[in-house]
Amino acid sequence: MKQQLIAWLMGFVLSTGVAWAGAGEMTIIYSGNTDGELEPCGCSEEGNLGGILRRATTIDKLRRRHPDLFLVSSGGLLASISPQDRLTGEYILKGLAQVSYDALGVQWQDLAYGDEFILHDGLHWVSSNHRHAGVAKERLIRRGGQLLAFFSWLDPDKDPAIAMGEGRPVSVSGDTAELAQSLKAAQASGALTMLATSLPLAQAREQLPLEQVDILVIESAYEEYGEPQKIGNLLVLQPGSRGMRLGHLTLERGTDGRIAAFRHEVIKMPKSVEDAERLLPWYKEYNAKVKETYLVRAAQRRAAESGDSPYAGEEACATCHADEHDIWWDTPHAGAYDKLEDVNKAYDPNCVGCHTVGYDQPGGFIDMDTTPQFAGVQCENCHGAAREHVKSAGSRPVANAHWEPQQMCAQCHVQKHSPTFNFDRYWPRIRHGLAK
Ligand code: HEC
Ligand code: HEC
Ligand code: HEC
Ligand code: HEC
Repeated sequence: MKQQLIAWLMGFVLSTGVAWAGAGEMTIIYSGNTDGELEPCGCSEEGNLGGILRRATTIDKLRRRHPDLFLVSSGGLLASISPQDRLTGEYILKGLAQVSYDALGVQWQDLAYGDEFILHDGLHWVSSNHRHAGVAKERLIRRGGQLLAFFSWLDPDKDPAIAMGEGRPVSVSGDTAELAQSLKAAQASGALTMLATSLPLAQAREQLPLEQVDILVIESAYEEYGEPQKIGNLLVLQPGSRGMRLGHLTLERGTDGRIAAFRHEVIKMPKSVEDAERLLPWYKEYNAKVKETYLVRAAQRRAAESGDSPYAGEEACATCHADEHDIWWDTPHAGAYDKLEDVNKAYDPNCVGCHTVGYDQPGGFIDMDTTPQFAGVQCENCHGAAREHVKSAGSRPVANAHWEPQQMCAQCHVQKHSPTFNFDRYWPRIRHGLAK
């Protein structure tokens, strides 16, 4: 109540134009790349951090504690690697719109589906050198008697159009003079200035006008936040990627308005952080859309199937390899599809691939109604398609007969989904056959 009153009085003082002194404390919550990850996959405990549901809970809680906090992101919300990423991107934007970011920088990956794609949710995008309607060149945020001016710089050299041989596009300017001008004006008006970019520090220092920047947010590091660095008057922040954590910066401004002192904390968002209840309808809608698209694709694939599959399914192996089959049956591989069902992700094509046999391959897993015999991680995920082997009673080799064991695992036990994978520790837990 008291805080609200103070906030109201501050607002009153500001709106009546009483001179504002630069000094004071500011709380800034910042995030870096989300990279298309609406939620963590949950494949491992270590990697099970972040996601928009937990981010909303964390930020709601922080806002209750610091009603005047500033919430900004350096952008990089979207990915465009799998066909599913577009739908996920749409929902990332919708979800984040409910988290009420004060400003979001634009990175090239955010423009993968066109300039319009990112606009429709009332998100406060900022790009100081990319011209298109609906994206501001800077954003001034006034809160709790403090003013934050947010800028963002899109590296013109990384324009995908250049890579595609289309030369330097006209929509992005490499000229920093205007940015320098705006930064200067913002500082003169009493704002703390913050500039976000996907450039690494060395390049940012070479290319950007940093004299009038108080906080520079550089290229996201992989997953983990970097230590903040103070270089003269400049505070450099490096967020982590994949939306796993948040940065919490508390700073003290001197009477000159510059940063006099700061505290920095990284907030992890593990499973123990509850999902934000207010976003559950959004999440339900997202999952329903994912399922809908999955079923359309499954129907297409059913229609396209010719009838002969190169896969045989694990049951066909049991007759001749009973020992191997018994061992496999007791490993987590056998139940890998059930785990997806447990977390309501059995219709997400970004998950099904590593938890079934031959998903999206001719004759492979389609869905539980059509191909229940290919659910889970089975013999043929590692040994390769084996129908011919079965038909020939073992005289024809399995498809991956010449693969190294490590190569088999590497199809799925990748850093992102199995960060603690180590062949020598994992293989003994599923060991079978004659070898080792
Ligand atoms: C690139 C392959 C791959 C993809 C894609 C993948 N997973 Fe996994 N998943 C794994 C592997 C490997 C493990 C086992 C990790 C370990 O124990 O080291 C696993 C384990 C799991 C587990 C079991 C965790 C436990 O505690 O027992 C769940 C649940 C799961 N994944 C869900 C998902 C979901 C949901 C998605 C999609 C968002 C997904 N997976 C996508 C490879 C994958
Ligand atoms: C009708 C019996 C039979 C069935 C069914 C069968 N196998 Fe075999 N399998 C054999 C024989 C025989 C060998 C050769 C054993 C040897 O040379 O020591 C063999 C060898 C293998 C080997 C060793 C590498 C190789 O290719 O020589 C693997 C791996 C294998 N089978 C996997 C499978 C899988 C997976 C299935 C089920 C999809 C399966 N087998 C079904 C009889 C069978
Ligand atoms: C997670 C991967 C994986 C799964 C799943 C798997 N295997 Fe294997 N299997 C291996 C590896 C690795 C070896 C050892 C091969 C080597 O050392 O060259 C092996 C060995 C074998 C061998 C003996 C080959 C030999 O010469 O020693 C047979 C037979 C076999 N597996 C059959 C099966 C059957 C049947 C299933 C399903 C019930 C199955 N495997 C499931 C990875 C797997
Ligand atoms: C087709 C994808 C795939 C391949 C190939 C694969 N795995 Fe897995 N593995 C998984 C998934 C998915 C899980 C999680 C299963 C679950 O918990 O439900 C898993 C779990 C495991 C586990 C249990 C981990 C735990 O935390 O309990 C071990 C051990 C393991 N895999 C070893 C291996 C080894 C060794 C290889 C290679 C020889 C291999 N896997 C190949 C997908 C795969």
